[in-house]
Amino acid sequence: MSTAEETATAAASGAAATERFHHDKSPYEAVKDTPKERVDLLAREVLDAIHRTIREHRVTYDEYNALKAWLIQVGQDGEWPLFLDVWVEHVVEDVATAGRRGSKGSIEGPYYVPNAPERGADASLPMRDGEPGTPLLWEGAITSIDGTPLAGTVELWQADADGYYSQFAPGIPEWNLRGTFTTGPDGKFRIRTIQPAPYQIPTDGACGKLIAAAGWHAWRPAHLHVKVTAPGHQELVAQLYFPGDPHNDDDIASAVKPELILAPVVQDDGTARIEYGFELDPQED
Ligand code: DHB
Ligand code: FE
Repeated sequence: MSTAEETATAAASGAAATERFHHDKSPYEAVKDTPKERVDLLAREVLDAIHRTIREHRVTYDEYNALKAWLIQVGQDGEWPLFLDVWVEHVVEDVATAGRRGSKGSIEGPYYVPNAPERGADASLPMRDGEPGTPLLWEGAITSIDGTPLAGTVELWQADADGYYSQFAPGIPEWNLRGTFTTGPDGKFRIRTIQPAPYQIPTDGACGKLIAAAGWHAWRPAHLHVKVTAPGHQELVAQLYFPGDPHNDDDIASAVKPELILAPVVQDDGTARIEYGFELDPQED
């Protein structure tokens, strides 16, 4: 067992994810001009759906009190970012990107951290000496949907070969397996990293309690997270997956799409080579 496995807890990763979310600019600012009518409509329909479920399934007082206790625990464990990103964000992402013609995206999840170290266009992600895991060599380019190469950035963050993210599990260097790659006018990048392990959402907190009570599993397939930007183009947030992962078909976060599955080719030296690029949609306005 690694150090991280011995000491990672839902409360600690939840607290870090909650703090990380509060660091970003106020989420209320972007919706400050929302008309009352829309707030009324959305709040009322969500409450109606809850009321319907209670009536249809004759939810008891004991079940209502268990729900109340559980919701309180989600907050106490700091697990709202985890809960929402696992069970809700994928639908928001689908709706937000429905009109796109370029590369498919996926959920951001709770573990993005901005301003990861700049590495240029051809480099390795920051990693420890002897970082475990199959070495990956990933080549690609950022282009516009018409094929024009774009000078932009690929921010990449991922779990390590034990399934842990730096800054959200203890004992891992701050920027381990997090980096920013900046492309020149040809849009090309070449990144060296390692293959992450499948990721299990924390099982010892409120989300784990729900998973156990409902008989679900807690797994996400192994994935690389990216955020891709270029001037004049819409930001692309995506995750890339590995063929044959048993959880590609039953991701707890419902965030796998066939277009996001890589096709690594293992070379003689054991490195898995990947070709995968990003086509960005032009900005709308
Ligand atoms: C969660 C974790 C992830 O690594 C991810 O990609 C999506 C969601 C989570 O724990 O909520
Ligand atoms: Fe993730």
